[in-house]
Amino acid sequence: MKKIVVKTSKNIKDTKKIARFFVSKILKNKNKKALVVGLSGELGTGKTVFVRAVGGLLGIKRNINSPTFVIIKKYPMKNKYKYFFHLDAYRLKNEHELLQLGWREIVENKEHLVFIEWPENVVKIIPRNSHSIRISYSKKRYRTFKIQHNRRA
Ligand SMILES: Nc1ncnc2c1ncn2[C@@H]1O[C@H](COP(=O)(O)OP(=O)(O)OP(=O)(O)O)[C@@H](O)[C@H]1O
Ligand SMILES: [Mg+2]
Repeated sequence: MKKIVVKTSKNIKDTKKIARFFVSKILKNKNKKALVVGLSGELGTGKTVFVRAVGGLLGIKRNINSPTFVIIKKYPMKNKYKYFFHLDAYRLKNEHELLQLGWREIVENKEHLVFIEWPENVVKIIPRNSHSIRISYSKKRYRTFKIQHNRRA
């Protein structure tokens, strides 16, 4: 059964609170491979802001900026995970392009925590046991976050 947690964000402070909730979940995870989180939502819904909040909570000191042009950014961390990956598949045409950038090595390693914006562009190679966060605008331009763990059937 798929449980979806729904949260509302009126501002960036709320997004940080949602990030805190999410971080507490993923630090408990007993994954055997990388933990992959797909972030979906229209342009400007706040995917990068959320990833930045998560990275800050996990102790990343460097500023996390959008990886739209470089596709992949990698940050070292000192917790359950050793590396934080932030990817943006917006400019990718297909899965092949991401495989050529070393996607397999990224997702095989359980010390990797991987956030990917626009996962629908490479949907066939997103691990089935991943997390999905879908952000949408709700009325009055609040954001709704739908958080789900896509467990293996
Ligand atoms: N919860 C929020 N409340 C108010 N403004 C927000 C919120 N989240 C993000 N924003 C603002 O929305 C803008 C876009 O945010 P962000 O870059 O995170 O979007 P994105 O979903 O990553 O977009 P893209 O698809 O282009 O990568 C930023 O100016 C940011 O400050
Ligand atoms: Mg972004």
